[in-house]
Amino acid sequence: MVTAIAPANIAFIKYWGKKDATLNIPFNDSISMNLSEAYTTTSVEFSSSITADEVHLDGAHLTAKEISRMTDHLDRIRGLAHSTFKARVVTKNTFPKSSGIASSASGFAALTLASSKALGLSLNEKELSILARLGSGSASRSIPDGFVEWKTGEDSDQSYAYSLYLDTYWDLRDVLVIVASSSKKISSREGHGSATSSPFFHARLMSMSERIDRVKEGLKKKDLGVLGPAIEEEAINMHASMMTQRPSLFYWTGATIDLIHAVMNWREEGLPVYFTIDAGPNMHLICESKDAENVAKIAKAMKGVEQVIINKPARGAHLV
Ligand code: PMV
Repeated sequence: MVTAIAPANIAFIKYWGKKDATLNIPFNDSISMNLSEAYTTTSVEFSSSITADEVHLDGAHLTAKEISRMTDHLDRIRGLAHSTFKARVVTKNTFPKSSGIASSASGFAALTLASSKALGLSLNEKELSILARLGSGSASRSIPDGFVEWKTGEDSDQSYAYSLYLDTYWDLRDVLVIVASSSKKISSREGHGSATSSPFFHARLMSMSERIDRVKEGLKKKDLGVLGPAIEEEAINMHASMMTQRPSLFYWTGATIDLIHAVMNWREEGLPVYFTIDAGPNMHLICESKDAENVAKIAKAMKGVEQVIINKPARGAHLV
């Protein structure tokens, strides 16, 4: 039996829309940071005595669709290893499933590493990232350490993520504010499929490289005053595109909007904090480590906030 841990990641530049839906090849490059407190631990065992794949998720129910996505991924890995053994998979998240905290990213990254090792494959980081991507796009970014870039690439072999900077590079914090832990109504998978139906989608792609440059400059200089505005604009830009696609994807709740206004006020009062939001109502507040406790305290006092978790930058997928 092999056990792997993989972090969720928060995208500073988002992956939204696929130019190849089967291979999960995105329209644009994306940039993310791995999260220290939001991760998946997955144990996998292959054996001739197991008659059918079994998938257990601690504390949550998996739908038939979710189970088949995981067994399809096991088939991919079995194919590479020329194995016909069935698997027993036990997986556990530190955060609620399908709440926009990219459970699919950490889940497929951990499943990829644990299963490939359990079948005796020795894949390098690039190969693991490509394989994880086939399970779920953003999982490609949960393989490398720290601050990560995923280049869209022209084909499957070129579409993988790598580390821009290690987790120890910059002491940033992601104060994750959970406003609702119920499952999403429309999965990000379905949402990606209709991304191009938004009249804003093309404009989003046209303005992308400028935001990517600013995010990279902010990281290079370790300057939150450069990074923060770029990631905030990027989140609003992606959600504007989501809201205007058909069918409309409106992930924000009243609590999300209250938090957006609050963050803007806190900044005016001199607190350097910026927000980003993935495919859900929860908010990620990006700040320096010295401000994290204060940010967490004032966020927690807001109406509708259920839980606040302070994340540091983290390593990518690794064996335990
Ligand atoms: O990998 P998926 O299918 O869960 O898509 C992730 C999409 C966003 O979280 C909205 C953006 C991102 O880049 O993580």
